[in-house]
Amino acid sequence: MTSDDKGSTPVPAQRSVGAALTEDPAPGEVLLRVSGLQKHFPIRKGLLQRQSGAVKAVDGIDFEVRAGETLGVVGESGCGKSTMGRLITRLLEPTAGTVEFQGRDITHLGVAGMRPLRRDVQMIFQDPYSSLNPRHTIGTIVGAPFRLQRVSPEGGVKKEVQRLLEVVGLNPEHYNRYPHEFSGGQRQRIGIARALALKPKLVVADEPVSALDVSIQAQVVNLLDDLQTELGLTYVIIAHDLSVVRHVSDRIAVMYLGKIVELADRKSLYASPMHPYTKALMSAVPIPDPRRRTAKSERILLKGDVPSPISPPSGCRFHTRCWKATEICARQEPVFVELRPGQSVACHHPENAADQAPGDTVLLSAAVDAVAVVAVGKDAPAPTHVSDPSQVRTPSEAAADDA
Ligand SMILES: Nc1ncnc2c1ncn2[C@@H]1O[C@H](COP(=O)(O)OP(=O)(O)OP(=O)(O)O)[C@@H](O)[C@H]1O
Ligand code: SF4
Ligand SMILES: [Mg+2]
Repeated sequence: MTSDDKGSTPVPAQRSVGAALTEDPAPGEVLLRVSGLQKHFPIRKGLLQRQSGAVKAVDGIDFEVRAGETLGVVGESGCGKSTMGRLITRLLEPTAGTVEFQGRDITHLGVAGMRPLRRDVQMIFQDPYSSLNPRHTIGTIVGAPFRLQRVSPEGGVKKEVQRLLEVVGLNPEHYNRYPHEFSGGQRQRIGIARALALKPKLVVADEPVSALDVSIQAQVVNLLDDLQTELGLTYVIIAHDLSVVRHVSDRIAVMYLGKIVELADRKSLYASPMHPYTKALMSAVPIPDPRRRTAKSERILLKGDVPSPISPPSGCRFHTRCWKATEICARQEPVFVELRPGQSVACHHPENAADQAPGDTVLLSAAVDAVAVVAVGKDAPAPTHVSDPSQVRTPSEAAADDA
């Protein structure tokens, strides 16, 4: 018998696992509301460790997550996705802004205040190799939330853990095995079982499949999707690129250097992205229909590096890499505004929408050389530089045109 088995570990102040501490949200009700959220990591120097600057990892973001939906969050490495995930699960203390869960301000709740909420908000981590303690059995790992929250499930911890292992597609007999005995995909399933143990309302999954082989990625994404339908979960799923969140997200937020630059429902975002950065990310998404795999399309390659979040560019942060950047872009930060129902964007010269600064037409010199367009698909010629990247078709436009 392991320490997890029923009866071997005292579970004080027992509570039924089904007894939610907070009300169940009605479908569509705002579960999470984030306003002006910031996280600046201080940079300290010298003997006295004086603050000499800050990494502006998340720099003022606003969004809502409704019960039952999946919000996908995408953006390049270092744009602040994980920091955002850790802020909304309250694993990090924000520098400014607020986080509300079911209408309650949880921004500065302490450990004791957060304890009941820890049941409702769970996180799945990026790396299934480092997020599971190698010295603990699977039973101990998946059963840990019960002990930490002093919850006694009906039938005991062991039975409930074995049920959870079955739910995520693992053999309940593996209860006494150790993480090294499992593959990456299986380990991620263990991480998912642990996250689901206390029947959370919101699950934040930070790049849940990026460490896995492509062949396994779809299985894990499908598992998350099935569990959402079965258990009525709400997800925030973080990913590097749009192809991972494509099938599971209801809405998608695109982040760039600590800001959300576009937030839209999935259909609108894929059919007509408005922010040039979204358009560039979108051009890299493979066309899913195998009959159209050979269709020709173009990929926008952003040339410059992502600037440092210690001193982000003035005005629009994307202006150093944007082919549409004009003088106003370097001077004035664009307002994040809903230009179409359900589609908000922060851009002076959006794609597929009226120009927000029509008088400002002279391109910045950096804009002229900001991107290269590469033709992909059957018989594609060598990479070409085109003068008008706005002519690039997104995968869905290419598929529609070729139909
Ligand atoms: N604890 C920390 N102290 C200082 N800087 C940090 C800390 N955590 C993150 N950062 C910085 O904040 C920025 C955002 O990091 P974050 O991990 O949130 O990015 P990300 O979008 O998740 O990247 P990736 O896709 O590579 O996981 C980065 O520049 C990172 O170096
Ligand atoms: S057009 Fe201007 S505001 Fe819009 S993304 Fe490009 S640089 Fe930013
Ligand atoms: Mg990350």
